[in-house]
Parts: sequence; structure tokens; C-alpha cells
Amino acid sequence: MCGIIGFAKKGDSTSLSCVEILKQGLKRLEYRGYDSAGIAALTKNGMVVVKDVGTVDKLFSYPEIQSIEANVAIGHTRWATHGRPSKINAHPHTDCEKGIAIAHNGIIENYIDLKRFLSTEGHVFSSETDSEVIAHLIEHFKKAGMKPFEAFKKAVSMLRGSYAIVAIDSSEPDKIFFARNVSPLLIGIGEEVKFVSSDLTAFIKYAKRVIVLKDGEVGYISPESVHIESIDGIAIDISSRISSIDASIQDVDKGEYPHYMLKEIMEQPYALAQTFSSLQTQDLSDILRELENARRIYIVAAGTSYHASLLGAISFKRFLGIEAEALISSEFRVVSRAVKWGDVVIGVSQSGETIDTLLALREAREKGAKTIAIVNNQFSTIARESDYVIPMRAGPEIAVAATKTFTSQALTMLYIVAKLAERASIIDVDAKAMMQGIKMSYEIAENILNTTQDIAKAIARKLVDKQSAYYLGRVFGVPIAMEGALKLKEIAYIHAEAYPAGESKHGPIALVEKDFPVVFVYIGFLDEHIEGNIEEMKAREAWIATIAPENMVHGSVARYSDTIIKMPRAPLETRLITYIIPLQLIAYYTAVAKGLDPDKPRNLAKTVTVI
Ligand code: G6P
Repeated sequence: MCGIIGFAKKGDSTSLSCVEILKQGLKRLEYRGYDSAGIAALTKNGMVVVKDVGTVDKLFSYPEIQSIEANVAIGHTRWATHGRPSKINAHPHTDCEKGIAIAHNGIIENYIDLKRFLSTEGHVFSSETDSEVIAHLIEHFKKAGMKPFEAFKKAVSMLRGSYAIVAIDSSEPDKIFFARNVSPLLIGIGEEVKFVSSDLTAFIKYAKRVIVLKDGEVGYISPESVHIESIDGIAIDISSRISSIDASIQDVDKGEYPHYMLKEIMEQPYALAQTFSSLQTQDLSDILRELENARRIYIVAAGTSYHASLLGAISFKRFLGIEAEALISSEFRVVSRAVKWGDVVIGVSQSGETIDTLLALREAREKGAKTIAIVNNQFSTIARESDYVIPMRAGPEIAVAATKTFTSQALTMLYIVAKLAERASIIDVDAKAMMQGIKMSYEIAENILNTTQDIAKAIARKLVDKQSAYYLGRVFGVPIAMEGALKLKEIAYIHAEAYPAGESKHGPIALVEKDFPVVFVYIGFLDEHIEGNIEEMKAREAWIATIAPENMVHGSVARYSDTIIKMPRAPLETRLITYIIPLQLIAYYTAVAKGLDPDKPRNLAKTVTVI
């Protein structure tokens, strides 16, 4: 979950500043972790390493970093796993002689054995991390007479676990060595510069072509070339592996917005339009056939993607009468014995790298199930390893808290359901109208964004001093409530719990007293009993905010809600995709009102590549 960047540029490329490339790259990778950051550069005076706890901005405020000039350098932004966030545990790590520097993302499972062995050989360790062994192992094999790349490969072959590694060596100063197993790593190819990084957003400004490394691949970049081979030494022809990048620098810039999160919330109409038109151009016939013939459908995902999956599973069941189960991917073992040939497992993931989702899909494939990936990152491991891929093309999402990808995931799943309905000619489902409702989501999203800002801010002012809140809904409203509660928890640090509203009287209501905030999500479909739940909460003097269709604001909704977010009249499918938007805004404005940075929630990372 850490972020890595390395670059090798031509010596005469004066337009490319080492410090700028590293700073911009690391800032774009900060969403992967921001406990600490560091860089190592090969300057004319040798290896320079600067690292510390804290943000990338803090690191780059140090005078010693600003004067660095180098054509080859690596950088790292950390989300601590082994060893607390501290200066010594920050990457890059060096060998005893400080001639080799490495940055690593992942977990080296056998590091204790390796450390013990290296210590007996006289190596002295400076950190508590698992990663530092890599630098010392390379040093060990070099001392045994190997050339730098051979020593690097030999060191990598001894590692167990997950890793994306970059290494620089002052005895071969024009190269960056790299290796990948499980943790993502990409090569960026520009005219004057080559990159190796965890994410293409780090180099998109300078390189428009990319190679996605596969597990077990090692190699090096230099300013002129890219070399890849398998760990057992078989050279790989890269010409067929190069893809063009269709995102632009604007996609990963904050622009006029104070935070990426707000930018991405506001981008939703555009992202939904992109996802819809991309789906229209994809030939989904094989995927639809697999789903029609499936013995059983499972949808696996984590975090926000899991909430979108719940919405998808309810849609399969409710609109098509097809049994589909949404599962938290780390809990896939609950069903893995039941998964068989003939089943279809859909993996939903923004990043396409979440390890739990990846492992669930791998297990499903081993059992003979077909796998379908719904991903935003089409260059991801989950995309590459699945039988079928549906790229969402919502554009890069940088903020840790997912927003636009939730609405795009919801749209994608409803689109599939509408397509299946069309083919099955289900009597009480008008597939054409359904598709129309899905298509309308981007106009309605725009309308909602224009009309709900002030009320979201007012609700945020109410929530700012609260310790706890409930988010309640029924049927389709439940996953939306769950996602709204997750947003508030993640970025505003308010304990927020979502419940099916009908279940709230079986426990949760015990906590409700005067002014306890309860947010109701009223979709206006299969959830009319929510009126009774609103009354129950009001009877305990809760403070009630209700999201409701403007044409359904009557009865208890009108009478007992303290505030009502009136949503524009729209078809059901549109409502399912867009009702999360005011909840995203509420969480965002609450975090801002508390003086928090919504883009960098504590302890969280956008891409979770550890189990
Ligand atoms: C992390 C992020 C969440 C995200 C989840 C799943 O927890 O902080 O925002 O929803 O991972 O990520 P994925 O990339 O698989 O959708």
C-alpha cells in the first residue's frame, strides 16, 4: 500500500527537474500511504538519501532536497506495516556501505530468517522494517562477486511474500532495477525518461506509454531502454506489452478544487457519462451469456466497492429473480467450498489491486468458476487475471475515500442487469425504460450537485460535534446508507453505523436520545415502511435528516424529519445511482468543518495490498 516511483532520464534533458519529478510523482502516490516519505538519488557526489515521517510536502521543504540534481532517483511514500512510522523506518533503505538504496511495497514474509543470516555475516541494520533486508542481500551477493543486476536478481529470488521493489546502485548509476510479485508495478515510457512506479498517475505528465509488469518479472530501466526478464532469466519481448495511456494530467490534478475528494464528487456527472458510453461500446455478449447460464453468482469486493456490490446483488435478485450474493472479499472463505464449476464470481474493485479481492477471485478460478472484473484501473492485476473485464473508465480516483467510482460501479451493475432483462424479456421489467433511467443518472447527478450543497453544509454543521450517527434505509436504501456511514466514518472520524431501518428497533434504538442524528435514505421503492421508523426515532427525540424524492415528501417523512434533502423526480434506476451524492457531500463538509483533510484520512490507504 506504499507508493513507489523511480525514474531514469537523459543527462541532457534540461526540461526535466529531478526534484520536480520526484515531488509531483510522490504527491500523486500519497493516496497509497502518507506515514512517511523519502527519496534516494544518484548525484555526481554519490548516493543521497533524504527521508522523514510526515507528508511529501514536508519532505520537500528540506533544503538538502531542493539542490539535488540527478538523472536517476527513487522515491517512496509509506503506509506502515512492519515497524512504526519513523525516520529510520521510512524508505529508501540502504546497505551497510550506502551504495545501494531500495524502496519496497509489500511484505517480505521471511525477513526474520534473512535478517538473522545477514547479521551473522556482519550486516548492520538501521530499521525495524522487513524491507531493509533487500538492500543488504544485494550487497551480500555483490560482495560474493556478482554484478549489480545479477546480485539484485539473486536477492529477489530469496524473498518470500509480496513485493514491488526498485533499487539503485552507485556502481551502475544509469539504471534502476525492479522486481514484482503481487504488489503492482508499472513501467512508464517517455521520450527522454523512463519510469517505474506503483501507479501511472505518478508519471502521466511525462510518459504516455505503459507496460504492466507481471508477477515474477525483474529487470531494469535506463534513460534509453527497458529490459524485462523472468526471475529465471528468460528475456521478455516488450514490444507487444506496451499500451497507450488515455488519461491526461488534468485527470489527476486537483484543478480549482481544495481537495481531490470534492473534485471527484463534482466529477460524477462526467464520470457516469463516460462509464455509460464506454459500456455501450463494449461487446458484453460473452459476459451476459456466462451470467445467464451461471449456476450461482457471487460478487466480491471490499470497502465502497462492497457497498456497490450489495446494490448490484439486490438488483440481480429484485429485477431479474436471479440469485446473487455480495460478499466482503476477505470473507470469501465462508462460501469457497460451495463455489464450483458453473458459478460466476464478479470482482468489483476501483484499483483492481485490493489483495483480498484478488485472492478471492484466484480461489474462485481454481474452483472452476468464471471470473468477471469490474475495475476502474484497466491495467490492474485483477483485470489481467480475470476471464472477462469490464473497465469503468470513470477516470483516475485519487482521494482515499471512493466517491465517483461508487456511482460508476452502481451504474455498471445496473447496466448489466438491464441488458440481461432485455435478453430475458421479463414480463414486469421494462428493460428499455430501465436503460433510460440508467442513462438519466448523469443529468440528475448534475442537478443534485447543484441543489444539495447548502443543505449538505447545514447538516455537516449539525454533525460536527457529534460522536455517533445512524444511517438507515430499507432494501436498496441499505447499501446506500452503508456507504454514507462509511464516508462519514472514514473522513470525519464520527462513529456512523448503517442498519436496515426495520432492524433498528432490535438494538440500535437503545442509543437514541435527544438530538441523536439519524439520516434516513428513502428511495421510494419497497421502503414505504420507513415512515414508521422515522416516527419511532422521533419519539426518542432523535434529530432526523431524510433524503427523499421531492414528489414523495409527505406523511411521516414531511412531519417528523428535521431536515429533508429533496431529490429531483427521477426513475428508480437513477435514484439508485445518485442518492449517495448528498451523503458524500455531508461527509466531505463535516470533515472540512472539523478542520480535517478529507484526502488523507488517518490510518487509511486507497489501495490495500496487504491481507
Ligand atoms: C480501501 C479504500 C476504500 C476502497 C477499498 C476497496 O479501503 O480506502 O476507499 O473502497 O479499499 O478498494 P478497491 O480498489 O478494491 O475498490
